[in-house]
Amino acid sequence: MNNFEWNFTTNLVYGPGRLSELGDLVKPYGKKVFLATYERNEAFAPLIDKTIDILKSNNIDYVIYEAIEPNPRVTTIDEGIKLFKESGCDCIVALGGGSVIDGSKYIAATAFSGGSCWDYVVLGDRKPKEYSGAYPIVAIPTVSAAGSEVNAGGVLTNWETKEKSFSRSEYRIPKVAIIDPEVLATLPLSITKDSAIDIFSHLIERYLSSPDLSEFADRLTEGMILTLRDTLDQLIINPKDIEARGTLALCSIFGWQGIQALGRMGTIPMHSIEMPLSGHYDIAHGRGMAIVIPPYLEYFAENLPGRWAKLARRIFDVKEEDDLAAAKLLAPKVIEWFERVGMYYKLSDMNVTDEKFERMAEDVMRMFGNPEEDKIASIIPTSVNDMINIYKLAL
Ligand SMILES: [Fe+2]
Repeated sequence: MNNFEWNFTTNLVYGPGRLSELGDLVKPYGKKVFLATYERNEAFAPLIDKTIDILKSNNIDYVIYEAIEPNPRVTTIDEGIKLFKESGCDCIVALGGGSVIDGSKYIAATAFSGGSCWDYVVLGDRKPKEYSGAYPIVAIPTVSAAGSEVNAGGVLTNWETKEKSFSRSEYRIPKVAIIDPEVLATLPLSITKDSAIDIFSHLIERYLSSPDLSEFADRLTEGMILTLRDTLDQLIINPKDIEARGTLALCSIFGWQGIQALGRMGTIPMHSIEMPLSGHYDIAHGRGMAIVIPPYLEYFAENLPGRWAKLARRIFDVKEEDDLAAAKLLAPKVIEWFERVGMYYKLSDMNVTDEKFERMAEDVMRMFGNPEEDKIASIIPTSVNDMINIYKLAL
């Protein structure tokens, strides 16, 4: 097991109906709330209105920013930062999925520290600007996916340069996350399925990241993958199943928060390979991961067969004793599962051709690669060619 440090600083407030406690939960953190959320549509409007009513009935002053889109854009977030400062807000309530929460993190920290949100993301060998602090955030997730409501990460898309990148900052970890399964049950099934695959991608990204031993991490991860699979089956039958919504939320939160990876904190660049799909084609992140995971698992099965084989045997009932043979069965087993839950997608299903594969792979290398080696550092160093081959397998 590798050395580690781990803490969990967010106050996790769980339970059906607990959105109603927002007033008391936000009051300690500010006097004027910046309520950041998606653009209003028919399905989402009642939840926005309900949140506003709770703020009003608690006499909390607020400004509303109904503008954050999936794959939040630099221009939208910079606009939000301007409004936050002009209106004299001092805390944020983020009502939405990972995009809204990530965008809110950039607003909270950049409004405090100055500049544009894009100054702070990882971008090749450029040294990202460092925050000097952040305004406090109360997160109300409406999607269970990356657990952004309890972590330091955040992803942004620069639509002008077609780049998608990220950063992490402890300043931006939400103070409170209200996990209300009744709120989560408002999410349409198709987005729920996308986000379930995103949760799976997070779980395997660390599990497959090195041959280092950490049986504790392995068993936690395996338990969460099995739980995720069962829960997704329940939600396909009944998307309003409150108990299943709560379980999915816990899989998303603890599937990417670090506890599932104690002793093996490495990563493989599956997420980096997916990023151009959002940057160039605006494909939803979870759908993009569903496209990238099977070819990635197929392409690299021979590089770390021990880990691939362990996952195949423990989760997908593979009986094969030879590691390499078992490793090669992982991708087909995952495809079988994706097909069963209606989540097996190819790039061609999204009308993506091979036209930009080279540019996409070069973008990833420029942003995340090690310029000296021309590879993305990982237990399996990944070249531009490897990425192009994975995109081709995804066609
Ligand atoms: Fe993800």
